[in-house]
Amino acid sequence: MSYVPFARKYRPRFFREVVGQEVAVKIIKNSVKANRIAHAYLFAGPRGVGKTTLARLLAKSVNCLNPAEGEPCGECENCREIDKGSFPDLVEIDAASNRGIDDVRALREAVNYRPLKGKYKVYIIDEAHMLTKEAFNALLKTLEEPPENTIFVLCTTEYDKILPTILSRCQRIVFKRAGKKEVLEYLKGICQKEGIDYSEDALSLLAELSDGSMRDSASLLDQATAYTEANITLESVKELLGILTKEELLRFIKTLLESKVREALEFIEELYYRGFNLEKIWGMLHREVNNLILFKSLENPETVLEEVELYEDFKEVPLESLLYLEEVISRGGVDARTRDALSAYRLAVIKSYLIKDILPLSRLIEGGFSLSSAGKEEETDPFLKEALSRATRTKEGGKTVFLFSEQDWRAIQDRLGELRALHPDADFRPLKKKREDGRKTRRFG
Ligand SMILES: Nc1ncnc2c1ncn2[C@@H]1O[C@H](COP(=O)(O)OP(=O)(O)O)[C@@H](O)[C@H]1O
Ligand SMILES: [Mg+2]
Ligand SMILES: [Zn+2]
Repeated sequence: MSYVPFARKYRPRFFREVVGQEVAVKIIKNSVKANRIAHAYLFAGPRGVGKTTLARLLAKSVNCLNPAEGEPCGECENCREIDKGSFPDLVEIDAASNRGIDDVRALREAVNYRPLKGKYKVYIIDEAHMLTKEAFNALLKTLEEPPENTIFVLCTTEYDKILPTILSRCQRIVFKRAGKKEVLEYLKGICQKEGIDYSEDALSLLAELSDGSMRDSASLLDQATAYTEANITLESVKELLGILTKEELLRFIKTLLESKVREALEFIEELYYRGFNLEKIWGMLHREVNNLILFKSLENPETVLEEVELYEDFKEVPLESLLYLEEVISRGGVDARTRDALSAYRLAVIKSYLIKDILPLSRLIEGGFSLSSAGKEEETDPFLKEALSRATRTKEGGKTVFLFSEQDWRAIQDRLGELRALHPDADFRPLKKKREDGRKTRRFG
């Protein structure tokens, strides 16, 4: 028997086997149950998340001879033929690979043919945004006067490219990127059924790498299974794919943020000479830096990021440093494609040296002054009052601390004697004596 890839072997044959995509499943199941089936659906979403799968399930559940509780039986002749791909009333058109006249013909004929065997004739048009102009027109015509007992399911990864005239005639169903937990669940299911030994962290890495696509995760699992002879460990997956774990990537990012250039260079070179997949690693690195930026800038990062706990360590890193690092890494990735990759990555690492000199905006405000009671603020001289109005205020140990811009602070320093006399209880004290590079911060509290 020839080898069937996991993605095909484990395509869900019932709604209950679909992982995630709860909204899509619910809409489809309910419309079948209530017998309110649209003439045309548009399934939009990233690749490998279940669009074709659910389109087939729709075809199956409307044509099943013994449906029960919204599920197809899976055993009647129609169900079996749909699973095998030999059901005459299910027509799949791949607009991406079949851009000739065949698809146009199939669409034209759709109007004329009634279902041969089942209750509904179902046309699944994959990558519908790639349809040729002629095919689009044929489809449009058909959708204007939809033939009875015909269902069109247009699937697309590029919703924006579908013409509005088509869109308005379809019921739209949006598919989500698969979450890492869902992918993990799907992979575990396969391993258990196949009797594959695995470690949790190894599958978790595969799930991470599949970038929200169930199909990609299944292909990675195919490779890992073959490579490890069905004993999937973290080390073997890393070796097979030549990549790093998320933790290792974050450690490397730390090195860059600390401007430890030599250490970072050695690391990159070692990966290179050990034959790691630097391009892939760089891509993952980029994604992690982007995640860190989101982590720093969002109020509830856990709503968009998975495993936020891994990012906690970066809480104190200024956003500005991360933004700079992102630019350097992004640039390095582009350069690596157009010239010697290793030297592009090296250069990016060297550029990260500048990170230590990046001052966050908040620290550009360099002078400080504190008053123990707010009332005194009013009594001060007009010059200081004006500077105070521009200052940033914070509270520190019951006192109000004013942080001045460098310019204001310089002016204040010029009149320090005078101002001290005016506010004998004000506390002038540097917060940080010296920065590493010898520049002084003039922050007084
Ligand atoms: N939601 C899902 N639940 C379980 N398996 C899925 C899911 N989405 C995709 N798969 C797996 O990935 C394969 C490809 O899915 P498919 O429906 O063709 O994706 P799409 O049409 O969105 O690109 C399926 O055969 C199945 O093994
Ligand atoms: Mg598909
Ligand atoms: Zn059936």
